[in-house]
Amino acid sequence: MKKLSLTVNGKLIEREVPTNIRLLDFLRDYLHLTGTKEGCGEGECGACTVLLDGKPVNSCLVMAHSAHGREVITIEGIGTPDKLHPIQEAFLEAGAVQCGYCTPGMVLAAYALLKENPNPTREEIKVAISGNLCRCTGYNKIVDAVELAARKEGK
Ligand code: FES
Ligand code: FES
Repeated sequence: MKKLSLTVNGKLIEREVPTNIRLLDFLRDYLHLTGTKEGCGEGECGACTVLLDGKPVNSCLVMAHSAHGREVITIEGIGTPDKLHPIQEAFLEAGAVQCGYCTPGMVLAAYALLKENPNPTREEIKVAISGNLCRCTGYNKIVDAVELAARKEGK
């Protein structure tokens, strides 16, 4: 066990945790932030995407202790059921959510993209979400949703 101290969704968190757990497990099992999903567990699907110091990472590939002193944002830090983030609204409006398993990771990938590039092309959107797999939507509606979110945020 070792003390882990990091900021999650704007809150300072300090916990004693084993040295060998993944950031994904720390978020889900210790903090009960279950919006972050496990799909493949090996860096292929993006369901576990979170932002680490603002950049999307696969939290199944990051050891919890390597986030020590850093800032993590999960889907719970983006919006709430009562107050959705414009990207989340856009996903609903564009019909980009089916089973929803990929959605937290997709939204975080889109969030990171729009922070860096508020007006991306469709190609740039496809590149930004290329690490996130969706088995339901065929991707077009997700790309539509990110375009719509860019328009909403640009208002
Ligand atoms: S669960 Fe992490 S990339 Fe698939
Ligand atoms: S909506 Fe089902 S995996 Fe994307």
